Amino acid sequence: MNTNRLSYPMQQALIKQMTKEAHAAQIFLSYGCWADGEGYGGIANFLYRHAQEERNHMTKLMRYILDRGGVPTIEAIPAPPQNPQNLTDAFNKIFEHEVDNTTAIYEIVNLSLEEKDWATWNFMQWFVKEQIEEEKLALELIDKLKIAGGDNATDESLFALDKALEEAPDSVSLPQEATADKPS
Ligand code: FEO
Repeated sequence: MNTNRLSYPMQQALIKQMTKEAHAAQIFLSYGCWADGEGYGGIANFLYRHAQEERNHMTKLMRYILDRGGVPTIEAIPAPPQNPQNLTDAFNKIFEHEVDNTTAIYEIVNLSLEEKDWATWNFMQWFVKEQIEEEKLALELIDKLKIAGGDNATDESLFALDKALEEAPDSVSLPQEATADKPS
């Protein structure tokens, strides 16, 4: 009897996404080491914490495949890209990475629609929502650096940015939570 409730293409797509999330963790870890080496301890701390979030995302996919009777094969994780040139480059690449990840998640949602696999469709909505937060978080990094002066930021403003990111929360509010009294 086949007890795997996932189609083979769906199982493979979810495994591929597990690897993508693990790869994201490696990217944040690697960028964190780079930032640490450049003296930005607070930014490094933020990136290390985010690496753990990506591992959590991978674990959710692994758990889901197991719970549906599937086999979550653990694949090799590609090496992270080269170190960024500077903070602007780092934050831009983090944003691009999140958009790329959103595209991959949408592809799984599309597949679940095609297959009428409503359990996976429902499960993946968590990731759709999470990506709104992840992209916003990355956009906020770009905005904060821009306000600090971008590539021409002074040491003082970079010091303040580094400190702010050390203490920054790991998640942001969703637009669904906004009210007229509290728009952000
Ligand atoms: Fe797991 Fe940053 O998305």
